[in-house]
This record gives sequence, C-alpha cells and structure tokens, in this order.
Amino acid sequence: MKKFIILISGRGSNMGALLKAYKEGHLQAEPALVISNRSQAPGLETARSFGVRTEFISFKDGRAGEQRTIELAREVGAEFIVLAGFMRVLTETLINAFPNRIINIHPSLLPAFPGLHAQKQALDYGVRVSGCTTHFVNAGVDTGPTIQQRVVEVKPDDTEETLSARILAEEHGLIVETVNLLATNRLSTEEGREVTVLTADNADERR
Ligand code: GAR
Repeated sequence: MKKFIILISGRGSNMGALLKAYKEGHLQAEPALVISNRSQAPGLETARSFGVRTEFISFKDGRAGEQRTIELAREVGAEFIVLAGFMRVLTETLINAFPNRIINIHPSLLPAFPGLHAQKQALDYGVRVSGCTTHFVNAGVDTGPTIQQRVVEVKPDDTEETLSARILAEEHGLIVETVNLLATNRLSTEEGREVTVLTADNADERR
C-alpha cells in the first residue's frame, strides 16, 4: 500500500476524514505523517489521537520548510502529498520533487473563487451553486489541473457558516475519493491540463 503525507494549517477536518477512512479500511493508501505549519493547529491533536506521527514545520522561510518536508516525506516513504486546509502557496522546490503527486482540496468550483473565504466569495457574487474541487497543485493559488468536483446548491437564506458546513460535508467524501484514485494509479495527466480518471476499461488500455 502506498504511503502519503498530509499538510494542514488548522482544524484538520479533511485530514480527519482521511484518517477515519483509513482506520475503517476505506482508504487505499496509508497516511504516514501529518505536518502543520502552525504548532497549535487543532488538527495535530486529532492526528495524534489516530496514532499518526505529527511534525511542526515553520514555512516562514518557505524554501527550508519545503526542503524539510521533502526529507520527511522520503524518510517515511511517502509517494504523494495531500494539502488539506494548508494555507500556504508552494514553490517549485516541493512541487518539482513530487510532480503530479501533490493534491489540494478547495471549497469552491474552481476556477471560480480561489484564495481565502471561497464560500463568502460565492455568496457575495450571488451564484446559485458552488461546491468543492480537488486538483493537482502547481505554483499558483488554487490552480492546477482539476481532478474531481462536487456541486452544492446555494440556498437563498444561506450564511457563510451554513454554506461552508454543507460544502465541508462534501469535501470530506471527495478527498477520500480522490486519494483513492491517486493511490490506485487511476489519474492520468498525460493530456496536459486535463486529468483523466481511468476506469477499469481505459486503465487496461494504458497498461
Ligand atoms: C477546507 O474547507 C478546505 O477546502 C479549505 O480550508 C478548509 C480547511 O478545513 N482550503 C482552502 O481554502 C485552500 N485554498 P479543515 O482544516 O477542517 O480541513
């Protein structure tokens, strides 16, 4: 089974969804390490409660933080990296060390509403649907090839809190699904920006 690491900055509920899925036997990769760029991130305690190793790395000097992440990823034998509420933009240092092997989850239907407060941006704009996106990470802010998306209806009486909660519930399912696709080699980016989700049939063709 492939191993991976998770990078967080705060609450870590998406990370928690992955750790729970692994514990219950629904995840086809092993979360080997959780790294936070905030020493007091509540998610670190959650990770420890699942028995997963945790590390704090200050990314203030981005390059050194990314170098340390690469060292730790290699040390634990990780083959890919999941950004789960990790609120820093990565540089080529880390991205080039794991080409097409770093994914992020974002609470909007990208390319709409990247960056901070995506749910408030959606409400302020007045869209009728929003949702969440998983994508491969490049050096931009919430850019990079889209992997999967889930749609969430925006209701007339939604507040930032109610919309965020409904999107978050979808995020927790989506992140598990995407990690399983990546872990079982069912994602291909050969076509450039476009990510192909391989089914059993076309996966056979590509073997
Ligand atoms: C999630 O909604 C995630 O999509 C978002 O931060 C939240 C983290 O929650 N990420 C971004 O906005 C990335 N630009 P969590 O710590 O409970 O998983």
